[in-house]
Amino acid sequence: MSILFNEQAGIFKLDALDTSYIIGIFDEDKFVSHLYYGKKIIDSDVNYLYGPLYQVRPSVLPGQAGRIMDAVPFEYPTYGCGDYREHCLEVETADGYHACDLRYESHKIYPGKTHLNGLPSTFEREDGDCNTLELVCRDKVLKLKVTLLYTVFEHLNVITRAALITNEDEKAVYLKRAMSGCLEFDHQNFDVLTLHGSWERECGPVRTPLRQGKVTTGSTRGESGPTDNPFLAVISSDVTEDTGEVFAMNLVYSGNFLGVAEGHHFRGSRIVMGINPVNFSWKLGQGESFTAPEVVMVYSDQGLGKMSRTFHDLYRRHLIRDVYPDTLRPILVNNWEATYFDFTVKKLTEIAAEAAKCGIELFVLDDGWFGNRNDERRGLGDWFVNEEKVPGGIGRLAKEINHLGMKFGLWIEPEMVSPDSELFRAHPDWAIQIPGRHRSLFRHQYVLDWSRKEVRDHIYGMIHQVLSGANVEYIKWDMNRTLTETASAALPADRQGELCHRYVLGVYEIMGRLRDDFPSLLLENCSAGGSRFDPGVLYYSPQIWGSDDSDAIERIKIEMGASMCYPLSTIGAHVSAVPNHQTGRITSLETRGYVAMAGTFGYELDIARMSEDEKAVIRKQVDLYHKYHGLVKDGDLYRIEDSLGNPDYACWMVVSKDKKEALLTYIQIHALPGYFGAARRLRLKGLQEETVYETKVISVSAEVRNEDVHREGADGTEKTYAALNLTGSALMNAGYWMDRLSGDYMGMMIHLQAK
Ligand code: DGJ
Repeated sequence: MSILFNEQAGIFKLDALDTSYIIGIFDEDKFVSHLYYGKKIIDSDVNYLYGPLYQVRPSVLPGQAGRIMDAVPFEYPTYGCGDYREHCLEVETADGYHACDLRYESHKIYPGKTHLNGLPSTFEREDGDCNTLELVCRDKVLKLKVTLLYTVFEHLNVITRAALITNEDEKAVYLKRAMSGCLEFDHQNFDVLTLHGSWERECGPVRTPLRQGKVTTGSTRGESGPTDNPFLAVISSDVTEDTGEVFAMNLVYSGNFLGVAEGHHFRGSRIVMGINPVNFSWKLGQGESFTAPEVVMVYSDQGLGKMSRTFHDLYRRHLIRDVYPDTLRPILVNNWEATYFDFTVKKLTEIAAEAAKCGIELFVLDDGWFGNRNDERRGLGDWFVNEEKVPGGIGRLAKEINHLGMKFGLWIEPEMVSPDSELFRAHPDWAIQIPGRHRSLFRHQYVLDWSRKEVRDHIYGMIHQVLSGANVEYIKWDMNRTLTETASAALPADRQGELCHRYVLGVYEIMGRLRDDFPSLLLENCSAGGSRFDPGVLYYSPQIWGSDDSDAIERIKIEMGASMCYPLSTIGAHVSAVPNHQTGRITSLETRGYVAMAGTFGYELDIARMSEDEKAVIRKQVDLYHKYHGLVKDGDLYRIEDSLGNPDYACWMVVSKDKKEALLTYIQIHALPGYFGAARRLRLKGLQEETVYETKVISVSAEVRNEDVHREGADGTEKTYAALNLTGSALMNAGYWMDRLSGDYMGMMIHLQAK
């Protein structure tokens, strides 16, 4: 059992793979305090960790000046009784008082993991994967019970946390803040790593030194959002991809969130993550409970690379459900950037027919097939087919696509309504709005009040009908605006603060129903690109469209940023047309393929307008995907250190778990002059020192084919490269010679196979 309780010392020791997490219960006072988190400690008696904390216990202080709550590291700090640092819980009583003081009451340790009601969470896949500690705490005055849930994953450096808060008093209380978890450290020698960006620029890593004061990340948009991802790590100031200590938190939640790293006045630091308290309030009547979503905590003693691989292993095996951890996703072609709203069935089937000939397996019809949706100004909410555009309906179109040997997929944006729609004309109060206040439009649309069951049921009913009448095997679930002027016509005044969380619960409920009613449907999420890229969504949807920026070079940053937490197999990535619609950049078709292959692979262009040469390249890409995507999906990702943030090149590799195979991708972003200045040795990673790898260039961007670079076999068009046989020790220590390629944005894929 990875969770031990030393009753005499009042100490819980939670041991994950090579991590220990230690909780102490002060003897008489029963404060639940945090004693240690980090590399595994093998001692069984760690009583000494209380150290000077003993001196600040209330029980030793009566008659003295007073207690110093502000100095105690707590497991679930509360507001109102003298701890002024960032806290987890704030409660308001019916009388308007704000104070809460939690003490240990009891605990339970058991194998496995409890499912969180209505919320996504990681799960036990096989018996013995994980063990759970439930720590029950109580505020006696409030009659409030708080159950802290800790699950330890035995084979990973992962501990998850969540909290269940129950009001046992007859009077209602209001939760003003109910965070998911907290970490405490005895020092501030950290940088804080967070992921930030914007629409079309998601998931950019930002590193900020921690000192006294706060570094925060968060969203109040109603979704996790493009500007801040629900991830925060404190990292030793010397952290690299491969070295240094990392303590990371990632919230399994898709709505407003807050992550705070605080360096406090006793020279320690505290990290808190959970639902954003802004515009949050939750009324708990007698016997009612509130569940704070799960936060995943990952520890790495080998830098950011190991942190990412741990998240990837966890999410691939313990978050993504159904068949998806073990199946290759179909290669898709989506018509959005090929046609936007301007399509006919003839045009769609032309694209599909050419795509099918190239070996593409799934055709996705994007926005514009329903209601009067001929542009972005109208139609959302009217989920019945536009027979003028799609005569015979989705059923007939799906059949036509199926006849071409492809699966059929469909786009929906069920959370939204256009003012110009039948739905809005019939139910204007179904849109989120504050009475008497201007209702903001974004992309000409409003957000439906998905906290209301009748609204959810109505929308789901319409979508269910479309899906029941057609062979739809994939859904792209989009969400293109944030929440504003949040109020629900169905909630009383003292529950308006519940709307944003109830909205997210409503989204989860419908995604869950979709999965239950159509078990073989592959769901891909999207929110104007990657604006809702979070672990909560991954529980329902094994892939998420990474960004509306489909430019290969911009996408490298977005995909490598997302890979901090999320496995490559979850990042929707497509080859699109050039000049790129977002940046105007021209990159070779091969380069676009390399970048898209570091994700769930697909196309988003008009294949019917491509030349035979280009289609031949596509066929090769399809072939490469089939050969190597299993490796990309299941392998270990290594970001090659120097390429992160390097304006000249990008490089990453994926190594199979048994270390027998690897795939290296290199993109030269800026061509540099002079052979010696531009060629570089790349130190590979993750290989076995003594194993000999046959190292073979398997694809090179088009423009380089006519160049006489350095390897043998150039034939003017289809350059072949002599394979090199090198040990892991040479490849990792001396490095692999990567030549100067002849222009900007050119790249290569190199395959390594153990001999
Ligand atoms: C935003 C998405 O990110 C795009 O891929 C596309 O589906 C459009 N919405 C359609 O409106």
